Amino acid sequence: MNNFQYYTPTKVVFGKDTVKEVPRLVREYGGTKVLVHYGGGSAVRSGLIGQISELLTEAGIPFCELGGVKPNPRLSLVYEGIELVKSEGIDFILAVGGGSVIDSSKAIGYGVANGGDVWDFYDRKRTPQATLPVGAVLTIAAAGSEMSDSSVITNEDGWKKRGCNSDVCRVKFAVMDPMLTMTLPDYQTASGCTDIIMHTLERYFTPKGTMELTNGIAKAVIQTVMRNAVILRDDPQNYDARAEVMWASSLSHNGLTGCGNGGNDFATHRLEHELSGMYDVAHGAGLAALWGSWARYVMDNCYDCFRRFAVDVMGVPDEGTDEEVSLKGIEAMEDFFRSINMPTSMRELGLDPSDEDIEVLADKCALATGGKVGAAKVLTRDDFVKIYHMAK
Ligand code: NZQ
Ligand code: ZN
Repeated sequence: MNNFQYYTPTKVVFGKDTVKEVPRLVREYGGTKVLVHYGGGSAVRSGLIGQISELLTEAGIPFCELGGVKPNPRLSLVYEGIELVKSEGIDFILAVGGGSVIDSSKAIGYGVANGGDVWDFYDRKRTPQATLPVGAVLTIAAAGSEMSDSSVITNEDGWKKRGCNSDVCRVKFAVMDPMLTMTLPDYQTASGCTDIIMHTLERYFTPKGTMELTNGIAKAVIQTVMRNAVILRDDPQNYDARAEVMWASSLSHNGLTGCGNGGNDFATHRLEHELSGMYDVAHGAGLAALWGSWARYVMDNCYDCFRRFAVDVMGVPDEGTDEEVSLKGIEAMEDFFRSINMPTSMRELGLDPSDEDIEVLADKCALATGGKVGAAKVLTRDDFVKIYHMAK
């Protein structure tokens, strides 16, 4: 077991009708004027933005609205948000949406509190020292941004998708009402479930150590999400399944599933960020398209984990060589992805990148990662090219 730090300062307010708590929570964290930030329209159509507006008005808390966050959130809207917050004297950002809206809110918070060009933090030129407080009303279980230390923004200039990780940006409170996810399209529900599973898998495969309790939590998160993703495929209005998946989204990416096992891999994530940056695909679906190829490429460096995963998590019989058992575990996960209509190749994702496109993807990934990434196996640019080709 390795040493670790675990820091989750976000207050979670979970369950039906919890959105009513928003004004009280805003006040608790010092907000006196709020930016309500949201996406392309789902939260308006569902009536959620109207409800939040009424709640804030009734509570006497002034606010401005900025909608229009796109999936794979764009830097241009972040700049707009920064100017709006400054000109209106706003001191609290309320993100109403999913990972894209929360990440855009975190970026606006960085931009206002630190000054200078906010892209510097995503381009690794500066480290953020402060942020404006951000609260979240979550409408999709997926990215885990409501409890993570991460914000991922796409710069339209070159379609560079980059993350910035810092404890500074942890959300103050997350209101999680599973009812709010009932309006999700099936594809987004499945893509979200995939992302949740992947946040645990990214921490699971490491040759650096292990911790029994963490492995058990990881197994519970993965199996719970798999089981409930299938329930939601057949019965999207199932409240308990929505609730299981929603809580899993937070636990999967708040650090819990990595405690003591010595390493975050996140190579599949970094490879995928280039796909969604360049081709604007859903992040979870992009992960499903790449994961099996990544796993086959790295497994021989990490057979203990891959064998344990196959037998303990995926229920593969513990018979055969490490390679045979590991491959069966990977195939079982890919079967699951297919069962919830997720792709297991770039072609199934609707992409057909040329050899030149793959070189560009690998170049961008090398630039974004500083040339290498991974814990299960440390990968460099040549490896990125091979994995993209395997995933075609
Ligand atoms: O824009 P609207 O109209 O709201 O539609 C959204 C969007 O099209 C829709 N949606 C959300 N809630 C809905 C709904 N539609 C109907 N009913 C609802 N209740 O779903 C679509 C996807 O929304 P998005 O916020 O993009 O989804 P997600 O939470 O998957 O976030 C993806 C982004 O987060 C980043 C991804 O790379 C991607 O940019 N990630 C952020 C992480 C973090 N900050 O910790 C970690 C992740 O690994 C990930 O990289
Ligand atoms: Zn993710």
